[in-house]
Amino acid sequence: MKITAVLLAAGQGTRMKSDLPKVLHPLCGKPMIWHVLEALKEAATEPPVVVVGHGAGAVTEYLGDSARTVLQKPQLGTAHAAMQAESLLRGKTDLVILTYADMPLLRGETFRRLVDAQRLNPGPLSLLTVIADDPRGFGRIVRKPDGTVQAIVEEYVATPEQQKIKELNVGAYCFNAEWLWEALKRIEKNPKKGEYYLTDVVEIAVRDNLPVQAVLHDDFIETIGINTRVHLSEAEAAMRARLNRDLMLNGVSMRDPASTYIDAGVKIGRDTILMPNTFIHGNTVIGERNVIGPNTIIRDTTIGNGCKILASVLEGAVLEDEVDIGPFARLRKGAHLKSHVHMGNFGEVKDSVLHEGVKMGHFSYIGNAVIGANTNIGAGTITCNYDGEKKHPTTIGRDVFIGSDTMLVAPLTLGDGARTGAGAVVTKDVPEDTLVVGMPARAIRKLERKKKG
Ligand code: UD1
Ligand code: MG
Repeated sequence: MKITAVLLAAGQGTRMKSDLPKVLHPLCGKPMIWHVLEALKEAATEPPVVVVGHGAGAVTEYLGDSARTVLQKPQLGTAHAAMQAESLLRGKTDLVILTYADMPLLRGETFRRLVDAQRLNPGPLSLLTVIADDPRGFGRIVRKPDGTVQAIVEEYVATPEQQKIKELNVGAYCFNAEWLWEALKRIEKNPKKGEYYLTDVVEIAVRDNLPVQAVLHDDFIETIGINTRVHLSEAEAAMRARLNRDLMLNGVSMRDPASTYIDAGVKIGRDTILMPNTFIHGNTVIGERNVIGPNTIIRDTTIGNGCKILASVLEGAVLEDEVDIGPFARLRKGAHLKSHVHMGNFGEVKDSVLHEGVKMGHFSYIGNAVIGANTNIGAGTITCNYDGEKKHPTTIGRDVFIGSDTMLVAPLTLGDGARTGAGAVVTKDVPEDTLVVGMPARAIRKLERKKKG
């Protein structure tokens, strides 16, 4: 059986008071619409169709290959929006899951329940409902005396009696596709608002004596729809709690989940401990047995196992195993710290590889460099990699000892076992096992290298 999701995302989102289309506002690091599409993947068998309109260019560009889009112009209401999908889908799908792109908390399993209900329903549609004290402007579900659904009444047309109804229309439906296309054509323009309301399909089915199946959902939080930025912050908090809970249930410890901010899609291995005030963003993958935070921000970074990261900022970096950094370390794009690297306070690394066991304890800048295994970078070392026009590389061998406050004026190569005296300004390549001192640094003697581990 073919099941296709149709997502309505053409509305203006006026209440957001934003230049950004509503459905692109982020929630735990991903646009609202991403969350809905992820959930729908779990229930649909075919690629989704997104109805775009307001901000269509930006939304279509964001979606790329992840969905087919159809344009709704002008935007004449949710039924009119749904109608736009007919040209793509007529004859191509058995069921249509129809929902709104501003409901990012709905779960895949909830859509699956809806689909399962419709498979068993002899009638043409099933819809998701919820019981709540705060109606939040949702449509009310009117039931007949026998308990079957009679209609959805939008808040502003509801009588005072109907307004008291606590069962609400969540905004997720599963339709028999062929019936849907015909029913949409029978919906009349709502005289008050001049729009075509999707919710009127219920009355059309009821008029034809066809049963409408309500699927009552027990999780109100999941049904938070976003119409304002207040709703957005509520949904963000709910989504964050959900993501944190899932991670904890999979073996990640959090000292204080309420101050732990992790984007959707981040992967973290078991027995990793996250300390308070930690932010993990973007395309980040973290292994097992790490201790991260407090006060740490990580974005688009890969971290192995057994690392310690204290009060640091990492972006676009790779850390292998047992790396120990911070407090107050900064890793920028292209920083690659191999196993057992130690980096202490006030260090910055960008576009550089630090091989196994490099130690860089205090106040250093390393950019466009490769540093060999077990080399020690003294306090205050700077790779002077930029001449005002271009970046130049620095290559440092293994077992090198860079004295405190050394300026490494790139391009520059230091051989294995080389040493620089404190305050050296190194402008010329240093051969291996050679000590250089002064400004500009010159060689003063050959060294005997101590064998390390
Ligand atoms: C809608 C439902 C309401 C339900 C609520 C749940 C209708 C008439 N009402 O109200 O019963 O309780 O959602 O959140 O359906 N859209 C278009 N084209 C349009 C108009 C809207 O694509 O011409 C899209 C919007 O982008 C949005 C969705 O449809 O994603 C819902 O529109 P919105 O205006 O938010 O409807 P609600 O007032 O929330
Ligand atoms: Mg809405």
